[in-house]
Amino acid sequence: MERKVVVIGSLNYDVCLKQERIPQEGETCFADRVEYCSGGKGANQAVQAAKLGVPTYMVGCIGSDSQGQFLKANIEQYGVRTDYLREVEGNSGMSVAHSLYDGGVRASVVRGANDRVRKEDVDALEGFLKPGDIAVFQLEIPIPVVEYGISFCKAHGCYVILNGAPAAPLEERVLKQVNLFIVNEVEAGFYCGHEILSEETAKEEIRKMAENLGNVCIYTLGKAGSVVCEAGKCEFIPSKKVQAIESTGAGDSFVGGLCYGIVHNMDIFEAARFATCCSARTVCRIGGQPAMPVLGEVGTEVS
Ligand code: RIB
Repeated sequence: MERKVVVIGSLNYDVCLKQERIPQEGETCFADRVEYCSGGKGANQAVQAAKLGVPTYMVGCIGSDSQGQFLKANIEQYGVRTDYLREVEGNSGMSVAHSLYDGGVRASVVRGANDRVRKEDVDALEGFLKPGDIAVFQLEIPIPVVEYGISFCKAHGCYVILNGAPAAPLEERVLKQVNLFIVNEVEAGFYCGHEILSEETAKEEIRKMAENLGNVCIYTLGKAGSVVCEAGKCEFIPSKKVQAIESTGAGDSFVGGLCYGIVHNMDIFEAARFATCCSARTVCRIGGQPAMPVLGEVGTEVS
């Protein structure tokens, strides 16, 4: 039976302001333009997996506002199945990002409907999840639901990926249950208690973390690349040299690419190289979900 990806996570209406600099205290600044996109870490990761042709389902909540229908229609357009998406009264999740021309991004997220995801949304997957399916979590929905979902999916024989973003305190017992823990360099600093300032520190810290948790760990290091560690073997995977335009959703594209690799039985290092090609494509176009590549576009870069 074909393995599927089930993302249990967030959907956000992204408002992205393009501007020279962040306003200072008491100052009002003009932004040059605004873009409205379907986003949210969960939805982005689901879209990337679906665009690569993997059967993908989104579990989560949208609001009863017009943004909710926009978010649903957008992910469906990319092939994500929404059978387990629930509409709740009130606002959808929203992110407002100041995206600077030097590549810097500062964002704030309103939880909205994402905060209404419940354990019952996970229970609804009984009979649907099959051993070998990939379950993917991030931390933009309530943490107790994430913790419950991880145990539930493990008990149903799924391969569980946790993207620990945005960084939040999690019990070690929970981290030990996941098959793959992935974070960026800032989040890695939060979880390991040391700033990750170089490839060397990343390798040192990820080795300790992967050994302690007994699972696969990946630190993405922005423009530099990523470090992957499994069973004592750590590898640095350099990023592709591309003309980057915008980094929104690059990390999510990486996670979606990993899902493709795992579904197709690549080893984790090969899957990370494939995921690197996906995010390299994503940063070359404007927006998150629209910028993510379909399989044919990635294949030309993987050698
Ligand atoms: O990872 C990028 C995403 O983070 C954006 O789409 C935004 O919604 C925030 O959740």
